[in-house]
Amino acid sequence: MKIPFNKPYLAGNEETYMLEALRRGPHLGNGPFAEKCLSLLRTRYGFTHVFLTPSCTAAMEMGALLAELSPGDEVILPSYTFSSTANAIVLRGARPVFCEVEAATMNMDVNLIETLVTSRTRMVAPIDFAGIPCDMDAIKDIAQKYNLVVMQDAAQSLHSFYKGRPCGGEATLAAFSFHESKNFSCGEGGALVVNRPEWVERATFLQEKGTDRSLVIKGLRSKYSWVDLGSSFLISDILAALLLAQLEQAETITAKRARVTDGYRELFTPYRTSGCLSIPQPPLNVKTNHHAFFVIFGQSQNRDRFLAGCREREIYPYIGYLPLHSSPMGRKFGYRPEDLPLTEALAKRIVRLPFYTGLADEGLEYCFEGMQRVLNGLYD
Ligand SMILES: Cc1ncc(COP(=O)(O)O)c(C=O)c1O
Repeated sequence: MKIPFNKPYLAGNEETYMLEALRRGPHLGNGPFAEKCLSLLRTRYGFTHVFLTPSCTAAMEMGALLAELSPGDEVILPSYTFSSTANAIVLRGARPVFCEVEAATMNMDVNLIETLVTSRTRMVAPIDFAGIPCDMDAIKDIAQKYNLVVMQDAAQSLHSFYKGRPCGGEATLAAFSFHESKNFSCGEGGALVVNRPEWVERATFLQEKGTDRSLVIKGLRSKYSWVDLGSSFLISDILAALLLAQLEQAETITAKRARVTDGYRELFTPYRTSGCLSIPQPPLNVKTNHHAFFVIFGQSQNRDRFLAGCREREIYPYIGYLPLHSSPMGRKFGYRPEDLPLTEALAKRIVRLPFYTGLADEGLEYCFEGMQRVLNGLYD
């Protein structure tokens, strides 16, 4: 048996919905299935203003345009994130200012954000690693104090809840991913939530290549013209049909994924108790969507031996992100590895375990047994 890191999941209605979209049309963006997805997102999570985009990457690029980030601006973000969080900022000529993480969640350490604020800071861009919500109340307080935009990279956290509130509902802007590796997927896709009402009309222009086509659709103009910056921040209705089938099954998907989390937690807890490694410790006031599970080994050699032992059994954990501040691009901004020592150290010791919805149905026992053997070899 082979346990890949990720595997796409079909919730049931994908083929029916996609065929319907294909045969009936229209196939373009903001079509009937997109409207159904948006309506579900509005109703279930209270996202009043939400746009489907080609990816989370594109959603953040649209967000950065909307926030009018400009050269000279600074944006505080974790170094422990995907390149897309930083690219959205850098593409606008702004400077990424990297913040350390805290090990319990691998999210940005909110206690350090204020130390990084300068007169040029315009935005904070936290992520919700592994679907564990960042401390949004603390981040919002800082943003309010210094008049900053919060753009939440919620790529991994749709259907996670912070103090009972859905992730993505409170930041100025929040970007989700529907990439194949995420809990709810359409292969490649994303969404941008805009929580600043005065930005919403402009968002419709940016999404439609900088035109006011949205006003034509509403019957407010007879023809549309080029009114702003923009790009094609839309997804085809065929992909929206795929996404709808997944979003509708959010509870079933989450319940299956919870079984994977529970199993990993049980497997690794004795090793955590004996101080060999650590596992995620989401705060008690959050409910996660079980996006991912990570283990931070005490020593990087043990992480590497664990990875090798798993691979021998055809089980494929993954090393996680390489910190951005010490990446080739990070160095171009003048950062050195030693600038964020904790992030550097943790990134050498962390693994993300195989995690996909279908694992709950097939392969879980094989995965646990294989990992148990590897752990026995490491610690007994
Ligand atoms: C934190 C984070 N942000 C952004 C992305 C990019 O998402 P997408 O592939 O939808 O652009 C990822 C992808 O895994 C991610 O983990």
